[in-house]
Amino acid sequence: MNCWYRIRVPKNVFTEAFAPNIYKRPHVHIAKLNLGLISQEMNEWVSQFDMTWGGSMIFYRPTTASSRVHVDLVDANAKQCSAVNFELTGSADMFFYEDPDGTAELKDTPAGTPYLGYGDNLPVIDRVGLGGEPTLVRTDVPHSVTPTTAPRLLISLRFLYQGRPPSWAETISKLEPFLEPRT
Ligand SMILES: [Fe+2]
Repeated sequence: MNCWYRIRVPKNVFTEAFAPNIYKRPHVHIAKLNLGLISQEMNEWVSQFDMTWGGSMIFYRPTTASSRVHVDLVDANAKQCSAVNFELTGSADMFFYEDPDGTAELKDTPAGTPYLGYGDNLPVIDRVGLGGEPTLVRTDVPHSVTPTTAPRLLISLRFLYQGRPPSWAETISKLEPFLEPRT
């Protein structure tokens, strides 16, 4: 199953006020990014799909320790289906897994955002080395992140369509002209 695509986005994703170094910490750091730091170019780019940026998260990992297998949520009832990931320092492999139906645990990240946590032994259905390239990823299937080089700082931008996160199918159909074919 295809759970990611390289995506073409404007060159300047953030405003000049964006100062990534302030997010570097001794330990794993997860925070919400102020949407005012997204560039005008990037806001115009997303508006052509009748969408806006619904949220932005920062993930900082000082070591190559893996994340838990999880699904991102908007709230207890709604999955965050897709995200555009930008690595600013370091790099990571993302793994996507089969959903085991009904065995997840509802939890909150340190940033107060909800997620479903899973066990470790699910079958892998797709993987990608992000390699510092903007990548559209599917986040409504269980996934995990293993940094290959650290420290690793990643910004994840999430879409909003008609007041809700678009499904993965909606995301793909809207962004299709900007997705690179998978080889
Ligand atoms: Fe995630």
